[in-house]
Amino acid sequence: MKYNLRMPAVADMERHAKKRIPRFAWEYLSSGISAELGLQRNRTHLEDVQLWPRYLTDVGTIDTSCDLFGHKYDLGLGISPVGLSNMMWPTAERELAKAAQAANIPYTLSTMGTTRLEEIAKLAPDVAWYQLYVPRDREVMKDIINRVKQAKYKALVITVDIPVGAKRDKELKNGLILPFKYTPRIVGQTLRCPTWLMKTLSQGIPRFINLEPYGDLKNIKHLSEFLTQFFMSGVTLERIKEIRALWDGPLLVKGLMCQKDIQQCHEIGIDGVVVSNHGGRQLDGAPSSVQSMQQLDDKLKSDLTIIMDSGVRTGLDIVRCKALGAKAAFSGRSFLFAMAAAGDDGGRQVIEIFRDEMTRTMQQIGCTQFDALNDSWL
Ligand SMILES: Cc1cc2nc3c(=O)[nH]c(=O)nc-3n(C[C@H](O)[C@H](O)[C@H](O)COP(=O)(O)O)c2cc1C
Repeated sequence: MKYNLRMPAVADMERHAKKRIPRFAWEYLSSGISAELGLQRNRTHLEDVQLWPRYLTDVGTIDTSCDLFGHKYDLGLGISPVGLSNMMWPTAERELAKAAQAANIPYTLSTMGTTRLEEIAKLAPDVAWYQLYVPRDREVMKDIINRVKQAKYKALVITVDIPVGAKRDKELKNGLILPFKYTPRIVGQTLRCPTWLMKTLSQGIPRFINLEPYGDLKNIKHLSEFLTQFFMSGVTLERIKEIRALWDGPLLVKGLMCQKDIQQCHEIGIDGVVVSNHGGRQLDGAPSSVQSMQQLDDKLKSDLTIIMDSGVRTGLDIVRCKALGAKAAFSGRSFLFAMAAAGDDGGRQVIEIFRDEMTRTMQQIGCTQFDALNDSWL
C-alpha cells in the first residue's frame, strides 16, 4: 500500500483533520450552509447509486486514464478549487499542485488562493487549471486572464454559482473574519494545534496575493465587503462570451446544474461544465450533482465534457460519477482533509487511496477501461 494504513480512507483523514487544525479552519472547510441538508444530500445521493457487477471478464489489467481536452490524465479524478487552502495546511496549494503533477491529474487553483498563480503553474506545468471568480472591472478581468495565459495554465474554469456571498452561520459564530483578527477565541483555537501553528508561523498568514495588484487589500476593514464590490454579482452569458473571446484554451463553467444553463453555455462554445453545487455551501435547497446529472439529456452529456463534483469521497464515487455520464469526478474537501491530516504528504496519499479504490471498483464491476464506463452499469 502506498498510503498510511492508519488512514486508509478519506473518512479517516477527515476525522484526523478535525483534531489537527483550529476550529475556525475546520468549520470553514467542513461546513455546508444553513441546516446542511445539501451537504448530506450530496453524500446520500451518491451512496444510492448502485452498479451492476459483471463477472466472467479478465480484469488483470485496468486502464484508469481519462482524456480531458486532448490531455491524457492518469485518473478520472481532479482537484477542485478551494479558496484559502493554505489556512487548512500552510503549504497546501504548493503541495497539492506538486502531487497532482506527479500523479498526472488536474489541480485547480482558486482565485481566492494565497500562493502566486505563476508559482503554481511552474510547480504543475502539465496539469494546472485556473478558477476565475469574475471581477466586475473588465480591465482587471483581462489582466488576470492574461497572467493565467502567460503562466500557461491548461484550462480556465469560470465559477458562476456565487451570485451572492453565503451566510454561513458556523463561520459567523466562530468569529472567522478576514483579514484575520487575533481575538482571544482565535488565538485559543490556534494554541491547541501546535503542528499547524508552527507551520503557519513559518509560512506567514495567508494573503490573497493574486488580487493585491488590484486593490489595497492590506488596509481594508471588511474583506467580504471588498469582495462583493470586486466580483460580479451574477455572471452573465454576455460576460462569459467575452471571456470566450479572450481565452482560446479549454474553457469550463463551474456550478451549473440546470439543462437550460448548460445548453446555453454549450451554444456559445464553452468546452466543458463542472456540475456542482459548490459542495453544499451556497444553497441548501439545491439538488445534488447526482440529481442534476440524472435530468440532463444524453445528447448534451455526449456533446460536452461534463465534470462532476460535490460529495466525492471514494474511488467508488468516481466510478459512480462516470456511470452517470461525467467524464471525470473532482473533489475539494477530500484533498484538504488529507493535507490537514497528513501534512505535506497528504495530497500524494489521498491520490493513492482514490487510485486504489477506483481500480478495485472497476475490477469488481468488470470494467477494464475508465473511458468505457457508462450508464449500462447503473
Ligand atoms: C472551503 C471551501 C472553499 C471553496 N472555495 C472555492 C473557490 O474558491 N472557488 C470555487 O470555484 N469553488 C470553491 N469551493 C467549491 C469546490 O470547488 C467544490 O465545488 C466543492 O468543494 C466540491 O465538493 P466536496 O468538497 O464535497 O468535494 C470551495 C469549497 C470549499 C469546501
